[in-house]
Amino acid sequence: MANATPAPPPDPVPYIPPMSSPAASPNGNVESLLKEDRVFAPSAAHAAALGGAFCASMDEYRARHARSIADPEGFWGEVAADFEWFTPWTRVLEWSAPDAKWFVGATTNICHNALDRHVLDGHGHEVGIIWEGEPKGANGTPEVKHLSYGELLDEVSRCANALKSLGVKKGDVVTLYMGMVPELAIAMLACARIGAAHSVIFGGFPAPSIVDRVLDASSRVIVTCDGAWRRGQVVPLKKNVDEAIALLAAQNHTVEHCIVLHRTKNEIAWTAGRDHAWHELVGAQSAECACEAMDSEDLLFLLYTSGSTGKPKGIRHTTGGYMVYTAYTAQQTFNLRAGAGHVYWCTADIGWVTGHSYIVYGIMPNRVPTVMYEGAPNWPADDRFWEMVARHRVTHFYTAPTAIRAFMKWGDEHPAKHDLSSLKVLGTVGEPINPEAWIWYHEKIGHAQCPIVDTFWQTETGGHVITPLACATPTVPGSCTLPFFGIDAAVVDENGHELPANTGGLLVIRKPWPSMLRGIHGDRQRFIDTYWSRVAGMYLAGDGARRDDRGYFWIMGRIDDVINVSGHRLGTMEVESALVSHEAVVEAAVVGMPHDIKGTGIAAFVSLGPGHAPSEALKASLREHVSGFLGPIAKPDMIRFTQALPKTRSGKIMRRLLRDVAAGRDSKQDTTTLEDFNVLAALRGNDE
Ligand code: PRX
Repeated sequence: MANATPAPPPDPVPYIPPMSSPAASPNGNVESLLKEDRVFAPSAAHAAALGGAFCASMDEYRARHARSIADPEGFWGEVAADFEWFTPWTRVLEWSAPDAKWFVGATTNICHNALDRHVLDGHGHEVGIIWEGEPKGANGTPEVKHLSYGELLDEVSRCANALKSLGVKKGDVVTLYMGMVPELAIAMLACARIGAAHSVIFGGFPAPSIVDRVLDASSRVIVTCDGAWRRGQVVPLKKNVDEAIALLAAQNHTVEHCIVLHRTKNEIAWTAGRDHAWHELVGAQSAECACEAMDSEDLLFLLYTSGSTGKPKGIRHTTGGYMVYTAYTAQQTFNLRAGAGHVYWCTADIGWVTGHSYIVYGIMPNRVPTVMYEGAPNWPADDRFWEMVARHRVTHFYTAPTAIRAFMKWGDEHPAKHDLSSLKVLGTVGEPINPEAWIWYHEKIGHAQCPIVDTFWQTETGGHVITPLACATPTVPGSCTLPFFGIDAAVVDENGHELPANTGGLLVIRKPWPSMLRGIHGDRQRFIDTYWSRVAGMYLAGDGARRDDRGYFWIMGRIDDVINVSGHRLGTMEVESALVSHEAVVEAAVVGMPHDIKGTGIAAFVSLGPGHAPSEALKASLREHVSGFLGPIAKPDMIRFTQALPKTRSGKIMRRLLRDVAAGRDSKQDTTTLEDFNVLAALRGNDE
């Protein structure tokens, strides 16, 4: 060992945000100029307008939260008793970190709790889904469907029988790649009914994203649409599926069946024997299909999300705990009540977890109609959402800060034109909300009459984990306030020690909760490494946070190489891999940067190979190239060409510096390990 070269100095520790300002984020969240310290307390009038409060005061919240932490089995056993189970549990919880089993030994079916139960209880005629299509007819009105629980049960049963007729059985994974049509919710519930897991792929993803997910899930059946309407254009879903199936065949994976819903009537290719038209196959089935008795821990779905490596991970959610937690959080957070005239609208796409939990699974068991909208918020005009709120008399409206910032930009006159008096509760999700957007939402949409619930959660958590309760929690713009029942959330240092108020650190959850992820599909080690290793025995959310003097949580943004673009999660490495697969690119580094509308924009630093020169045309080509791999969401907002990337002596790209460069901040960070100071100087000077 005498000749061994000295070990390189350690790389800087992973970023933990300095927590002086709630808006200072490591990963480029939109920066806030407004300091807003007002507290907005819900009143008895709010509760009365909602038909009564499920949790009416902070004293009640504290007492119930304390009990849920001290006696989780007693607490969740009582909550779960409100659902229908085919066989009861023997234990509420078995926990051996990181493995949780909830409602051990019980069987149920989430589809039964979302549909059959209401029909059996005599509510089959009530509306379960209100769907609105994007295009407007010649008379200016869009297509609207009101689907009752009875109708939904019939169509779900037919779809379930159709899947069975293709050989789908319990334990298989069915891929759903569709637009926002009722048949997407129907197909999800049909899978759940027969015990097949679904993997929904967001319709904005291109063919290569389908390939990765289908392969990882070993899925052999895809349900899709000919196309999806988006801003007056047809997104060619079936064409993307055909392309993916060909790419999969080249990797020896056969997709045996493809069910195609004809929605946009665009021309599509057809492979006889493999492709089946929804209206023919599903339409020919019986409307009787018994629910499979699912073990509480049987897989309900996989949902792929980005992590800090290049490959998206398939988050596993199981049946019983997910069912109980999503429906219960929906009820408690939004104060949703059956029979109280509530109409709930979450504007997310079902391709993301928000749509899974809070358009379909968490809402339908509550027997409140859930609105599904097919298209864009600004089609054909910027007031489409407000027109819809008025048309459907929406009482609960749930959207993302990025959308709110877009509405602000489009102008106050759009909501002002419509009658928004039906609204009673507003929600946000997906990224930190800047106080400007919060106040605008409160005043222009809520007319100062509606509590705003800023719900913090993740694909992995399944449901809200830190959130106000509509009728109980005083809110402060920008804070997601307090942990939900059963959630033992804390801000800790690397050793798991809880930090004092107003000190930034790692957001963790120290106890299991019913809808927590049960793993990453096919990758046990990654599950352990990502969530359970950095702070031993605690779930690491991957966000920086602080608590204020009241104990309220302030989320500071991701601490890993994940960025949150318009509320959509993207791994910087995914974008980098897409960039370096372009012939001109030798190396690329991607970081988040503040963006007025998206919250976080994508900044790419790119070094080119010999024979390639920086140009606007090359930038455009790189943007298109990335979009072809990851979809339009991943297009970089800023591309800077650079001779080399700043690296530590051990060769790691210094992303902190790049973040500062991208944000136009002068870095005060320690650069002693920087390999070549000139690189940084050049990047700062290069204002491409
Ligand atoms: O960074 C946090 C941010 O979104 C991440 C989770 O992304 P995803 O799994 O795609 O789920 C989004 C919808 C649940 C989190 O790690 N995030 C989500 N909600 C909030 C938030 N950041 C701040 N405030 C929120 N309310």
